[in-house]
Amino acid sequence: MSLSIRTTKTASPRPMPPAEQLGFGKHFSDHMLCVDYDAEHGWHDARVEPYAPLALDPSASVLHYGQAMFEGLKAFRQADGGVAIFRLEAHAKRMERGASRLCMPGLPPEDFMQAIRAFVAVEDAWVPSAPSTALYVRPTLIATEAFLGVRPSNKYLFFIIGSPVGSYYGGDTLKPVRIWVERDYVRAARGGLGATKAGANYAASLYAAVKAKKAGYDQVLWLDAKEHAFVEEVGTMNLFVVIDGTIITPALSDSILAGVTRDSILALAKEWGLKVEERPLGAAEVLDAKKRGKLDEVFGSGTAAVVSPVAELAFGDDRVVINDGKPGPLANRFYHEITSVQRGEKPDTHGWLSRV
Ligand code: COI
Repeated sequence: MSLSIRTTKTASPRPMPPAEQLGFGKHFSDHMLCVDYDAEHGWHDARVEPYAPLALDPSASVLHYGQAMFEGLKAFRQADGGVAIFRLEAHAKRMERGASRLCMPGLPPEDFMQAIRAFVAVEDAWVPSAPSTALYVRPTLIATEAFLGVRPSNKYLFFIIGSPVGSYYGGDTLKPVRIWVERDYVRAARGGLGATKAGANYAASLYAAVKAKKAGYDQVLWLDAKEHAFVEEVGTMNLFVVIDGTIITPALSDSILAGVTRDSILALAKEWGLKVEERPLGAAEVLDAKKRGKLDEVFGSGTAAVVSPVAELAFGDDRVVINDGKPGPLANRFYHEITSVQRGEKPDTHGWLSRV
């Protein structure tokens, strides 16, 4: 059953800031889309309304037990002036899977896609057109029942907000990042929530990220929670390592997010006839590859940054500089291919774009 969405437009639309002032996640578009859930009515009362603070009961379970998750996807201004959303269906399905892990009712993928399209259509004026810009769309699901017992909530709010963004790290070109390999704190453990976009995973990441920043690094490389030996993710991104011409990325598990950009990179790599391995990847193997002179490239992938080259990895006092600290050819190639498809500048041969 499709959603019936009513729309109340703002009486005071705001102008979008100039592209060079956008940054990431600092500005918000004029509207939000909300849908309520309760056990009796299911998903109901879908509405687009002016962006405004939410009214939540102080006992709403999300505020106490953190039953909350989100997605992040982007809408792009196309070369012909229209708007297209990148990999809408993949995000819809991932949100439904994550909701199930958090004992939340997911919005059925068809309804999720309808809601995102309706939202982006209303916010057309907020889809920027400058290179490296997009409307970042943030669907979020929170538990709203006023109840302090520890069990899944019986009431939820799904909402979508939009943020016109520039590149995640600023600037138009790929900016290599310096990474601290974290050997004490962990992001996620086997059997935990790591494969979902639960807010809790990001809360868990903050302490080590702050520690890394203080030590002069941009982000953290996460190792597995049990042995602290295998690489899992980098910052809020999936990780790719190129050793002696082979692209290696950690195999998905319940402690690694199934990134949509990760999936896009793997599809392109296979299509381009590159050697790709999805398997456990030891930190020691990365260090050893460096010692042998075979560590060609390291980069992260995610919706926000698309591709983020790693200039340096700090394994304690062992500093590993990659490709002289410059973006490698594969990071460049994936970045340019994906961003060109996103903007309609190259043919969308995979059906990754949904026109609004
Ligand atoms: C992404 O790049 O997909 C992210 O999830 C980053 C976001 C949390 C800012």
